[in-house]
Amino acid sequence: MIGKGSTIFMTQVPNITLNTGAAMPQLGYGVFQVPPDQVVEPVAEALRAGYRSIDTAAVYGNEEGVGRAIAESGVAREDLFVTTKLWNDKQGYDSTLAAFDESLTRLGLDYVDLYLIHWPVPSRDLYVETWRAFEKLLADGAVRAIGVSNFLSDHLERLVAETDVVPAVNQMEVHPTFQQVDVQQTCRALGIAVEAYSPLGRGGDLDAPAVVAAATELGVTPAQVVLRWAVQQNRIVIPKSMSVERQATNMDLFSFELSEEQMAQIDALESGVDGRTGADPATAAFTQFRD
Ligand SMILES: NC(=O)c1ccc[n+]([C@@H]2O[C@H](COP(=O)([O-])OP(=O)(O)OC[C@H]3O[C@@H](n4cnc5c(N)ncnc54)[C@H](OP(=O)(O)O)[C@@H]3O)[C@@H](O)[C@H]2O)c1
Repeated sequence: MIGKGSTIFMTQVPNITLNTGAAMPQLGYGVFQVPPDQVVEPVAEALRAGYRSIDTAAVYGNEEGVGRAIAESGVAREDLFVTTKLWNDKQGYDSTLAAFDESLTRLGLDYVDLYLIHWPVPSRDLYVETWRAFEKLLADGAVRAIGVSNFLSDHLERLVAETDVVPAVNQMEVHPTFQQVDVQQTCRALGIAVEAYSPLGRGGDLDAPAVVAAATELGVTPAQVVLRWAVQQNRIVIPKSMSVERQATNMDLFSFELSEEQMAQIDALESGVDGRTGADPATAAFTQFRD
């Protein structure tokens, strides 16, 4: 429940139907760069605010705290959608299966809803073999859906050509100044849902004049405009915020709409690689584990 003025209302987050038939909330809460010793409270607050999808990763070092917040929340497991990711140094068949077990133990869960290959790391050429292990986890019922992150079109096309299960999701950097429209199109063509990470451009896209103008016109925050733009284009979004107030407003995306003109003005903020906040998946090969 979220308080808005004097009215209390339950924010309805729509689901996106994955190619497995499973439903994934279109809005989730991401915990990248939330230190392990500080993660319990913001995740607990997010769950209190009504978030039901939580995005973590082995490399974030905070799976244990995420699991604790979930356990203490009282929210039924079947009402939650938990995503975690395999870190790069664990790619390979046997190492993937072992790393998955470790994640599950840290989370204190019996299964995860979505397990992602965090980066393709094409220089190691292990993502196809890794995917075979993901297919086994899916067949065993240890995960409800399997997907990838930071995959470019050629990685997606190769995976689909050489393996049996089409990824349910590609979690990729998408925000107004860096949209990767070509990769999004490949995902759609292959039946892969697009999940936008860093959907606010890590805060960097919120001052853009088109965003501020739409926010003023609609009486909402710039972050709501940017997130609404994404959901209106059928993407899943996982904004991160340590602030209870911003967590709440970031959820309130389903009671207003951007006009075609406002959408087009935000589309026009695309600035190519200059807008990128993360690494380039074609070359990124970091394998250092965080802890
Ligand atoms: N797969 C990958 O490789 C990958 C890479 C990056 C991120 N991700 C996932 O995507 C999630 C989100 O991405 P992100 O954390 O990089 O960036 P983001 O969600 O785009 O932006 C987070 C930043 O925006 C600020 N912010 C949040 N809400 C705001 C609001 N309403 N008004 C003003 N500022 C606001 C936050 O500050 P406060 O905390 O102070 O509010 C924080 O500095 C991550 O947590 C992670 O789960 C995945």
